[in-house]
Amino acid sequence: MQHVIVAGSTGLVGSELIRQLKERSDVRVTALVRRPCGLSRPPSVTEKTFDFGSESAYAEIGTEAMPCDILLCAVGTTIRKAGSRAAFDAIDRGIPLRLAAALASNNPKAVFGFVSSIGADRPRGFYLQTKAAVEAGIAALGMPHVLARPSLLMGERSESRPMEEVMSHVLPSVFSLGDQLGLKRVLNRFRPIAAAQVAHALLHETLNRDVRGRVVIEGEDFYKP
Ligand SMILES: NC(=O)c1ccc[n+]([C@@H]2O[C@H](COP(=O)([O-])OP(=O)(O)OC[C@H]3O[C@@H](n4cnc5c(N)ncnc54)[C@H](OP(=O)(O)O)[C@@H]3O)[C@@H](O)[C@H]2O)c1
Repeated sequence: MQHVIVAGSTGLVGSELIRQLKERSDVRVTALVRRPCGLSRPPSVTEKTFDFGSESAYAEIGTEAMPCDILLCAVGTTIRKAGSRAAFDAIDRGIPLRLAAALASNNPKAVFGFVSSIGADRPRGFYLQTKAAVEAGIAALGMPHVLARPSLLMGERSESRPMEEVMSHVLPSVFSLGDQLGLKRVLNRFRPIAAAQVAHALLHETLNRDVRGRVVIEGEDFYKP
């Protein structure tokens, strides 16, 4: 039985992680949430209200009080929602790194799975620089980790994100044209991807494989059986 913690479990990717984990009988899942939202499904999924803003809240991660073999982090926001770059950074960089540092300290053999972004290896702009900083911070901790680097996420959101909606309508025809021009392999790296597929690939790499060092999932890796 593996103990899995999911942070960001109410989001597009996070809710898919929880949905797919519920179907497995070989895991015990703790879904960290900011406020109660009815995710618990005994015996496999337990929702835990967690104060992400409190330094002391992180101390239990990976201890007997909150066992963890695998921690999956799909936390994220937008600068518009956060209100400033500093607030965005505190969430998108601060939370994953606090989670990873606590886990590395309490259980160095545990695996950390992080939903990053395509382009984080060659960051241009504030968003990608934030993702790159998280990736570097996790690597510096020396723990085994899996980085999922998706392109535009596809799925039903309750909140409105106009730019994502426009792109999700425009991009399929652009990619289809590119495919016809023989650019399929090149374009796969940037192809919009269903949140469910991202969750599936991240679970496959972290739960079914022996992770050593760093594993990166991007482009066609997301579709490997
Ligand atoms: N959108 C894209 O096309 C895209 C593309 C590539 C990579 N990514 C990255 O993929 C990751 C997952 O994206 P997503 O679209 O699934 O995210 P999402 O739907 O926006 O969900 C974000 C999650 O983070 C949580 N969260 C937000 N602010 C928080 C805070 N201050 N403290 C604690 N938790 C907080 C949310 O919890 P609440 O429900 O409590 O708010 C939610 O569970 C993100 O890091 C994102 O940058 C996104």
